[in-house]
Amino acid sequence: IPLKNYRNFIIVAHIDHGKSTLSDRLLEITGVVNPTTDNKQVLDKLDVERERGITVKAQTVSMIYHYKGEDYMFHLVDSPGHVDFRLEVIRSYASCQGALLLVDASEGIKAQTVANFYIAYSMNLHLIPIINKIDLDTADIPRAEEQIEETFELLRDDIVHVSAKTGLNVEYILPKIIENIPSPPIEKYHRDLPFRAQIVDSWYDAYVGVIMLVNVVDGSVKKGDKVEFCKTGEKYEVKEVGIMYPDRRALPKLVAGQVAYIIPGFKDPNNVFVGDTLRKVGTNVEPLIGFEEPKPMVFVGAFPADGTDFKKMEESLQHLFLNDRSVVFQRTTSNALGQGWKLGFLGSLHASIFKERLEKEHGKNLIITAPTVPYKVEFKDGKSEIISNPDDFPDGNKKSNVIELFEPFVEALMTFPKEYTGSVMTLCENNRGIQKEVQYLSNGQTLMKYFIPTAHLIDDFFGKLKGVTKGYASLDYDDGGYRPSDIYKMELLVNGESIDALSTVLHKSQIEKNGREFVKRLKEFLRIQQFEVIIQAKANGRIIARETIKARRKDVLAKLHASDISRRKKLLVKQKEGKKQLKSVGKVNISNDAFQAFLRRE
Ligand code: GTP
Repeated sequence: IPLKNYRNFIIVAHIDHGKSTLSDRLLEITGVVNPTTDNKQVLDKLDVERERGITVKAQTVSMIYHYKGEDYMFHLVDSPGHVDFRLEVIRSYASCQGALLLVDASEGIKAQTVANFYIAYSMNLHLIPIINKIDLDTADIPRAEEQIEETFELLRDDIVHVSAKTGLNVEYILPKIIENIPSPPIEKYHRDLPFRAQIVDSWYDAYVGVIMLVNVVDGSVKKGDKVEFCKTGEKYEVKEVGIMYPDRRALPKLVAGQVAYIIPGFKDPNNVFVGDTLRKVGTNVEPLIGFEEPKPMVFVGAFPADGTDFKKMEESLQHLFLNDRSVVFQRTTSNALGQGWKLGFLGSLHASIFKERLEKEHGKNLIITAPTVPYKVEFKDGKSEIISNPDDFPDGNKKSNVIELFEPFVEALMTFPKEYTGSVMTLCENNRGIQKEVQYLSNGQTLMKYFIPTAHLIDDFFGKLKGVTKGYASLDYDDGGYRPSDIYKMELLVNGESIDALSTVLHKSQIEKNGREFVKRLKEFLRIQQFEVIIQAKANGRIIARETIKARRKDVLAKLHASDISRRKKLLVKQKEGKKQLKSVGKVNISNDAFQAFLRRE
């Protein structure tokens, strides 16, 4: 198939507006999948994606469509819709020339439609507007049309009205793709030059090892070719090439213009860097311009409970992260919890997906600390440092060599029915938000932009936003940069000793309230000890709050009848095992359960 008959595109849509359903219909019409089988979301392959109903990684699927006597090759690149994965979105858009802009007829334009539209627009993608779910009783087509016209300046006459669910009118989209979306431009894609491809994504398969999704920009590549990774200089022999149709379908070769897979025949995913250029050994062609590196926005510490095999746990965690290269994974140590790992995630959803999985798989064997954001500290000597472990944050005394402290913000874009404007403003102000823009849309919706501290965003801001709008609000966000902030480290002390893993960084306005709350909560979870225990919260050299636990001897045998010997033995053994599960801070024993219970508050 000639390059001029290639069409590479994505679907831009707000969550639940029907992107996966529409993809399934397109795959049926082009015969990639059989309409009689249950095609529920062919593209959402990862387990997490099916479980949570969200797309995390970029996927692609190829289709061949016969139109006016010619064959056309479509590559539908599926990108994550959620904002946590913005850079992945940009990467997948980079291999496309067009986008289907999908809007739910009853919901109209929402935050993610707007945010992803701007990315597509800024990347010069050609847009085909589509109104979906026209079968719904609540569909308001004229309103959706008006919004598309007003907000995106697209023509009403170009809009396709479909029901992805019933398949109504979906067949009209395919000719539009051919007529309106350009083929990969010949100025950028050359079939007659030496092979060059950009790695768009990679994943791990238990049978064949690493699989790379690539955008072939120049030349061609086939099985047996020797290729080189520009970044590392590593060389491999290609084991297989092919397209996703919808599963892997091997081809004799890949050519420029294709978004397809290559199996390099090795197992270690650390050899592959997304954005890196592949070329044939000996050709020395220039590497393509890489992608921006994803920056983790949320960090947690993970520590094995006592008695858990550190090495084994590390292997098992590494395995979990193999499929998601955007997770930062480093060793760390804590006085209270011992050796563990620091994990960095792209956003709170990203973090919560993994936290859920970790807890499901490792349960009581893993203590996960409260999420934190990366703060920035500027020192007098002109140096600055990003701090992602709250305990490393300079406390009051050390501040003498600190000039300024900064906290990260996001630029939040919210849409919701107009009547909630006041409540949303109050919510934003209460979360130290800084207003940027308010716009009233034609459909009675408000579009509002606020700078919000990332620390508040990850503290279930979306949940609170839904709370004040009866669930009607949608949210999207982008990096909002660092701003100077009046922030302090708050430590929790047990009998005078700081529990480093429970330190937090807080804005001045939150210290009193959180300090009191934290000591109360820790008191609830601490076991009564054989001596008095004092719990304190300290910030800026000052004790904020204090609680005391009175001493009491705990006798597990007290309630038993003296003759019940075997039961007595069992209990003593159990108590001994229980002791193994304790961490000791300031001579106070804190059980893994207590740590977990305290940290699981969220
Ligand atoms: P994410 O992958 O979570 O972003 O969602 P999505 O945009 O892929 O939406 P999905 O295709 O999962 O559809 C969301 C819901 O809308 C599902 O329950 C679909 O069955 C339903 N849906 C999709 N298209 C239509 C349609 O044309 N009409 C009706 N009535 N429902 C639809």
